Amino acid sequence: MTAELDLLVVGSGVAGLSAAVRAAAQPGVRVGVLTKGPLEQSTTRWAQGGVAAVLGGDPDSTDLHLADTLAAGAGLCDVDAVRVLVEEGPVRVRDLVALGARFDRDADGKFELAREGGHSLPRIVHAGGVATGAEIERALVAAVRSEATEIHEHAFALDLVIENGRCVGVRAALADGTIEVVRARNVLLASGGAGQIFSVTTNPLEATGDGIAMALRAGAAVADVEFVQFHPTALHHQRMPRPLLSEALRGHGALIRDINGERFVDEMLPRDQVSRAMVRRMIELHTDHCLLDVTGLDQFDVRFPTIAAMLSSLDFNPATDLLPIAPAAHYLCGGVVTDLNGASSLPGLWAAGEVACSGVHGANRLASNSLLEGMVFGARVVEAIENGTEGAERTGAMRALDGDGGRRLEGWSTPAPLSAAAPGDAVAIATARDDMQWAMTVGAGVVRDATSLAATERKVDHARALANGSGVASWELANLTAVASALLVAADARTESRGAHTRDDWPETDPDLALRLVIT
Ligand code: SIN
Repeated sequence: MTAELDLLVVGSGVAGLSAAVRAAAQPGVRVGVLTKGPLEQSTTRWAQGGVAAVLGGDPDSTDLHLADTLAAGAGLCDVDAVRVLVEEGPVRVRDLVALGARFDRDADGKFELAREGGHSLPRIVHAGGVATGAEIERALVAAVRSEATEIHEHAFALDLVIENGRCVGVRAALADGTIEVVRARNVLLASGGAGQIFSVTTNPLEATGDGIAMALRAGAAVADVEFVQFHPTALHHQRMPRPLLSEALRGHGALIRDINGERFVDEMLPRDQVSRAMVRRMIELHTDHCLLDVTGLDQFDVRFPTIAAMLSSLDFNPATDLLPIAPAAHYLCGGVVTDLNGASSLPGLWAAGEVACSGVHGANRLASNSLLEGMVFGARVVEAIENGTEGAERTGAMRALDGDGGRRLEGWSTPAPLSAAAPGDAVAIATARDDMQWAMTVGAGVVRDATSLAATERKVDHARALANGSGVASWELANLTAVASALLVAADARTESRGAHTRDDWPETDPDLALRLVIT
């Protein structure tokens, strides 16, 4: 263990590693990365489609990308944050190319561009067909391994350390089993999302909301957590996480059909609308899945080699089979509230990527804006630290804390710190995690109502009571229950339907609720 770091990054996806690479390039700056698996393991690695960015050439423009993002976000995006996203995105894509990331190009050497739902034009740069996240992660991991001062792999961040109202590091269980404080002048949460609060998800097992839970325990403001994006075209199969059939397939002409073979939805609508239409049709037809028809797609194996390999390993033939699909929890649109620099409400604590609520996604993220958000805001955090910025400004989503487009939720009690006492009962913890995930899928999934949310809360309370021991399984369960509770409180208070939040008992959008619900 070394002395105090200048920057400690928690998490190893695109947001955290982009920040780490940038910070470590400054002479004398001491950067650490702490992550609970190996460095290369993160949700970024699973990202398929690509990065939405306007890289030049009519008829596309950043104004159009901005308009598409705002439309998908259903009235809750912060326009300034989205402007930053679309304008700085292209530069960050070029930074990645300079770092060695190889995106797919045509015969003339130009980026190949795909189209996805909610985008008015093809503007998605991709790698390896739809293995974009893996390529970005490869390039960033290589750079971080050679540049960072300290890398803590297989280390579980337990809690933020606060001294005199400032975050000064993280208390973590390290790979050798000891619990230590890693001190840093600045801590960047870049620990990704919380798809594991649901039983049906595209997220890896590690996506347990650890960063958001730490922020909640430290009293940092969190918002928009009721907006969980369900990806409509996850393969309906017992494998978990659910294999993803990228939105890029629909951009290339794949069709969604019901089990009778009928089309019923415009495949190029934003994800929330497609998922909702699918769930309604599934209920109508008493079935648990729909079908994705990729039989008409030319050169499927060449354009989508990783999906072709996955399908073949599961005995599906995309040339002839209609593929069973159902919505799966995919992305948390909200998280730790930040300003336009990624600063949280707690001095010394920053957040970027899926863990953050920067205001760019609003009530529903536009396809392929997530890798983009990570690289743009990860870089902004480092620039702000370099410029000596202290504390959050009232910009971006942070404005919500002053009642400008936001309202604080009452009745929230801060979760207890994680236990370092005796290990919990492994079987009871695993069962409680399964039960909670299933309850969340049934009661707080694509469609919710007051009764289903209340019933789910009881299951989450039961799981929380069992998460009182030490060890990763118990800590993860405690974190999952903390995020699930925050989601349920916000989903209950949002008595309307908007974006990815659909209430059966409140089907209309309420103009008075065009604001962020903040938990602090
Ligand atoms: C996809 O390829 O459909 C997923 C990419 C994303 O989540 O934006």
